[in-house]
Amino acid sequence: MRILILNGPNLNLLGRRRPDIYGTETLDGIMDELTEYLGALGCEAECFQSNHEGAIVDRIQQALGGADGIIINPGAYTHYSYAIRDAIEAVGLPAVEVHLSDIHAREPFRAVSVIEPVCIAQVSALGKRSYFVGADILLKRLKGSGE
Ligand code: DQA
Repeated sequence: MRILILNGPNLNLLGRRRPDIYGTETLDGIMDELTEYLGALGCEAECFQSNHEGAIVDRIQQALGGADGIIINPGAYTHYSYAIRDAIEAVGLPAVEVHLSDIHAREPFRAVSVIEPVCIAQVSALGKRSYFVGADILLKRLKGSGE
């Protein structure tokens, strides 16, 4: 199984960006660990980060025929990108939305996700563990035993 892992704007700065909120690990470090975790479960992971909405939309479209599911941390695009929302809906692949921080316990604008309605689940507040819990939910769905 092939899993596309997408990270949106400013997540490339993990490690130095608000470590009090996002932790001290780098995105590369987290992605390496997640890739290894998925590999042990028989999945091939492809990681992509961009600060540009269109590049993320392009990558979602390319997943058609190239991936079985998507794990996405859309960063701030979570809260207003109808283009990313529509791309996920258009390709029809199961997607899980993940966040390091608790988007429901911060500024009010962060509590709104326009991406959530087209995802099978949203996982937030668990730090890097959100990605791993998200992966478990996605794999359950792909293997046919998900909720
Ligand atoms: C984030 C939460 C977003 O509100 C924020 O804009 C991010 C990171 C998270 O992982 O907690 O860039 O998606």
